[in-house]
Parts: sequence; structure tokens; C-alpha cells
Amino acid sequence: MEDLTPDRKSLDPIETASRDEIEALQFHRMKRSLKHAYENSPFYRKRFIEHDVHPEELKSLKDIARFPFTTKQDLRDTYPFGMFAVPRNKLTRVHGSSGTTGKPTVVGYTANDIDVWANLVARSIRAAGGRPGDMLHNAYGYGLFTGGLGAHFGAERLGCTVVPISGGQTERQVTLISDFQPDIIMVTPSYMLAILDEFRRQGLDPRQSSLKTGIFGAEPWTNAMREEIEQAFDMHAVDIYGLSEIMGPGVAQECVETKDGLHVWEDHFYPEIIDPVTGEVLPDGEMGELVFTTLTKEGLPMVRYRTRDLTRLLPGTARSMRRIEKITGRSDDMIILRGVNVFPTQIEEQILKCKGLAPHFQIELSRDGRMDTMTVHVECTPDMAGDDARKASAGELAHHIKAVVGVSTRINITPPGGVARSEGKAKRVVDNRPKG
Ligand code: DLL
Repeated sequence: MEDLTPDRKSLDPIETASRDEIEALQFHRMKRSLKHAYENSPFYRKRFIEHDVHPEELKSLKDIARFPFTTKQDLRDTYPFGMFAVPRNKLTRVHGSSGTTGKPTVVGYTANDIDVWANLVARSIRAAGGRPGDMLHNAYGYGLFTGGLGAHFGAERLGCTVVPISGGQTERQVTLISDFQPDIIMVTPSYMLAILDEFRRQGLDPRQSSLKTGIFGAEPWTNAMREEIEQAFDMHAVDIYGLSEIMGPGVAQECVETKDGLHVWEDHFYPEIIDPVTGEVLPDGEMGELVFTTLTKEGLPMVRYRTRDLTRLLPGTARSMRRIEKITGRSDDMIILRGVNVFPTQIEEQILKCKGLAPHFQIELSRDGRMDTMTVHVECTPDMAGDDARKASAGELAHHIKAVVGVSTRINITPPGGVARSEGKAKRVVDNRPKG
């Protein structure tokens, strides 16, 4: 793999500024942002008054803890435009969350918000090893989802040549990668695996592809999966994080030279970690729910937005800004099986340890009498010969899951292609338990 460490001189000065400088900027921006929310969004004004707080009371960054949280439910309750802090005609673009049930949650951007977003995605691509002049294959979905257009404008801002293919049409993805020879790919990690299968199906060696780095996010994935992708393509695989409510992709980004978690672009977003049950702020280093306050957003400022994503805050390394550890999962995706908490990423880790298994999997929950049961459907690799080998892999996986995660599971090993492929975010859990 090529050394893609960016030249320090190419970074934005704030990326390597001192903590004091970063915090001074954050404080100044936080104060301005709270004032903007209070003065221009009836939603926030009412909320602050109900909680008996006023932007003037912010005397230090830590005082943010006195302000109330916002949640996805607030966006639903004010659907479509009720939380905005600018008139609708000042919005340049709207996006929506991928919401699987009911109406999407709507987010909106002023021209300035779009500009900041492009700069932060450009910064993210550079941290991942991208350079002006690189060709970037963008397989994140275009549309209401923030992945496609967010990545697109950032790549253009950095000076890349963008191939705006969007998700899907896997055969064509591989043809274009072979013909255009891009340096960078942006796609969900699960869809990257589908692209990998297609390379092999077409008889192409993925290690000979032109790709030097991949920027993978929009869903949880493990370091074991990173290794799998890096080995298969002989390329770097780095993590990008974001959410529509805060901006979209580019809220935090892993650096190619360290691959040790994602630096939060703290000049625009103030992170906190809270206890998801009590709401109490936890010290850096402790695991909990990630909460963000936007520092520069005009259209839809977010004050203490509860992401539901579980991680911890760590000190800066390749950049001065703090890192979040790779996200374990969302509290909504946590399975509680007979009293044990299980995240799909833990299952992914164990699958990748077993020879003969491919990392395409889905977890099915069902009920047997009064017992909840979990079945892991997972594919075998094409070279896995015969029933005996499959049985052995199933036994090995069940053993690892029991030993490391602590639950007994059924394992169903399917032939290659037996687990549904996603073209964007993978659906890892199917809950067939009776409701109620
Ligand atoms: O997924 C934005 C995005 C697009 C990020 C492309 C990265 C790349 P939403 O559809 O609003 O936005 O979903 C946001 O996805 O709260 C996390 O639960 C999850 N997520 C996003 N990035 C990561 C990641 C986009 N790197 C929700 N690791 C977030 C784990 C992630 N989970």
C-alpha cells in the first residue's frame, strides 16, 4: 500500500492548532450559534425558556450541559420545516434521513452551510489520502440521502475528478473502475464487499485495481472488516462518519496515517458523551452516547443532538482535534438476547475470524415458545467444499460467539449469494419476534 500521508502544509491550520486555540474558537462559535437558535428558531426559543436557560448563561464550553437535548423525535414533531432558524426561501437544499418507517426527517442547508460542508468533506478526503487531481468513484447513493451529494461536492472542492455513479448496478461499478482507473472510492463498507464479489465474478484481480484508498461509512463496520477489504484490494480503508441531522458525511474522519479512530471536525461540531440512561455527561475516555452541538450551522442549528451512536472520546493524534472510537453500533440496533447485549459488529468480528466464511451476514431474531433465539445467516466462501467443512465452520462460529459475546446462536451457512446484498446501508437485523 502506498504511503498517502498528506503534507502537513496542505492541512487547514485549525487541524493542527493548539487545544487552547480550538477551544477558544469553539466557545466563540457556540455562543453565537445558541444565540442564533434562540433568536431565529421558535422551537429553540420555546425549549430554552421551558428549561429556564438563556444563551447568555454560557460562560464556558462545559456550560452547554445546562441546555436541553434535542432528538430525532423533535424533528418528526416539527416535520417538515418547523425547527429551522432561517426562512424556507433561504435554504439552498434539503435532504432527508433514510428513515425506514413513516416520513423521513427533513434537514436543510443555507448556501453557507453547503459551503462549509463541502470544505469539511474535502478535508476528510484529504485526511483519507486523497489529493487534488485524484479520480474519485462515488458509489454513495445520490438523492435525499446525504452520502452521494455530500461526498460529491467535497470531492469537487478538493479538486478531484468525480465519477458520480451512485449505488447499484454492481456490474457497471466494476467496469467503470477497470476502465477509468480511479484512485479513491467512496461507498458503504457492505456495498464494497458486493463490488469485491463482482470483481471476482468477472475474473478480475481486485489487488490489481487502481484504487489506493477507500472512504467507508454510513454504517458500523469493524477493524476486522478493514483488514479484509485492505487485503482484498491492496488499498487503504478508512472510516468516515456523519449524520444528516448534523450535516451528513464529514462530521468525523479517520486519518490514513494512523487509522486509530475518527477525528471530529471540532471547529464546526462540539461533541459530548453522555450516559444514555441518565443523560449525564461522561468524561473523555468513557463509553456512552455521542451528542453533538453544531457551531456554525445556519439553516438547522442543532443543540445537544442525541445521535444514539455509542462510542467514546479520545485525545487527538494525527490532528489536534479529539477522536471518536470506531462506532460500536446504535443503541437502537442493540439486541438484548436473554439478558445479554449484542451488537451486529460483534458478530461481524467473529465471522471474520472463521476460515471459509464470507462477511455477508444477517441476524434473525425469532421466538421459540417463550425463548428469544438468534440465528446468524452467513455465507460460505466459494471454495468451501462439502457439508463437513460447512458444519465445522458453523460449529467454530457458534463457539466464538458463545465465548466472546456470551450468547448461544444458531448458525445457518448459506451458499455464496445466499444473503441479500445491500446497495447502501446493510440491514443487519431482521426481527421476526411477535410484537407486543
Ligand atoms: O449515513 C451520512 C453518511 C453518509 C456518513 C456517507 C458517512 C458516509 P444518515 O443516513 O442520517 O447519514 O445516518 C446516520 O448512520 O447516526 C450512524 O448510526 C450511522 N453511521 C454513519 N457513519 C457511520 C460510521 C449518513 N462511520 C447514521 N460508522 C449515524 C458507524 C455510522 N455508523
